[in-house]
Amino acid sequence: MEIKEIKTVFTEYRSVDELNPEDRELASSAIHAMGRAYAPYSHFHVGAAVRMSNSQIVEGANQENAAFPSGLCAERTAMFAASSRYPDKDIVSIALAGGVYGRITDMPATPCGACRQVMAQYQTKSGKPLSVIMIGKSCVWKFDKVDDILPLIFDSI
Ligand code: THU
Repeated sequence: MEIKEIKTVFTEYRSVDELNPEDRELASSAIHAMGRAYAPYSHFHVGAAVRMSNSQIVEGANQENAAFPSGLCAERTAMFAASSRYPDKDIVSIALAGGVYGRITDMPATPCGACRQVMAQYQTKSGKPLSVIMIGKSCVWKFDKVDDILPLIFDSI
């Protein structure tokens, strides 16, 4: 028997201003997309922005529904829109921000497990790392690949 450990590596920035220009642009798009959330139940507005391998940015925001499971997170809204729009391109990066009534959370909003699984699949599809940027008011986190937020990714089928 042996105890094993899985480590996660990420970069913490003090603000979006410290990001490289491409990531800063993506972060701005994610913040902008928060304004398009439809969240009459939780009032938690989430914006996401996806960068494709052709440099295009596709935005998405969470969409809620009275039949709760029918709604969709911002990240999946953005990724599905992006992959539908550019089926032959890869998703290179995704950024997200969220907060009650559109006020960005102090600490970065982190993606739910289902969104991580969808990110993992697009990363596997592309065969290249898909980076994830989580935006908060007091700091910004960048994970260089989905494995860093979803260890032991399920891609066995
Ligand atoms: N939400 C997202 O859009 N992304 C996440 O990763 C977690 C949660 C949304 C779903 C719901 O509309 C609201 O935030 C509250 O859970």
